[in-house]
Amino acid sequence: MFYRTLEVTIKDEKKVALRSVRPEEAEKVLNCLKKFSGQTRFLTRTPEEITMTVDDERKYLENRLDEKGAVQIGAYLDDQLVGLGSIWGVGGTSRNAHRCEVGISLDEEYWNLGIGSRMMESLIDVAQRVGYEQMELHVLSDNEQAIHLYEKYGFEKCGTVPNAYKDSDGMQHDEDTMIKNLTVKFEPWEKATMDLEEWIEEQGIQLRY
Ligand SMILES: CC(C)(COP(=O)(O)OP(=O)(O)OC[C@H]1O[C@@H](n2cnc3c(N)ncnc32)[C@H](O)[C@@H]1OP(=O)(O)O)[C@@H](O)C(=O)NCCC(=O)NCCS
Repeated sequence: MFYRTLEVTIKDEKKVALRSVRPEEAEKVLNCLKKFSGQTRFLTRTPEEITMTVDDERKYLENRLDEKGAVQIGAYLDDQLVGLGSIWGVGGTSRNAHRCEVGISLDEEYWNLGIGSRMMESLIDVAQRVGYEQMELHVLSDNEQAIHLYEKYGFEKCGTVPNAYKDSDGMQHDEDTMIKNLTVKFEPWEKATMDLEEWIEEQGIQLRY
């Protein structure tokens, strides 16, 4: 699904653009994934485990644009990609089609400026427009910053997997699952999605190579 550019205001009145990440930005995205995963132990993969090729990533981004129930957005500050956020359907069967998952990660240099909050607002809005009824996420139980953000947007903890993550030094960490009920309307603000086909036509680009 395509997410049209939305300009949001963060701390110090700075402007950030939230928009779909384009397939041609695949290399940039891979560099971000490697950078972000090296900055925190709260993400699943280590930088060495980001092994996708640029071509793999480009195809992944194309698929995200194609998929009706998924969106991959980037946060751009002064045209620089500083954050990634996405929603995707859980499972893909009729019995769980009402559920989506969300994930957000940002360059450490830009934490605590309000970018994560703006991204979460946008993703909740998209999820509701798509018709999802439940948004889910997994977060390490000691990731206080992220949990604060999720609780601010109405996520509630519903369970814990003990020792879900194991660091290279043997240290283990629990992981919480959190859920947000989307059937209670989140006040929509000016943001929009539009169909992929419409976007392809507008951009004059070809997605299948
Ligand atoms: C978690 C993350 C997405 C948050 O994004 P962000 O842009 O920094 O978030 P925001 O600035 O919008 O909000 C951060 C909030 O956490 C609060 N916070 C910061 N550190 C905190 C801490 N140690 N404990 C509790 N709250 C904390 C801030 O005060 C702010 O609260 P407020 O909105 O009530 O003022 C970002 O820090 C990140 O990418 N972290 C590394 C990757 C990660 O952990 N991703 C989540 C995996 S589940």
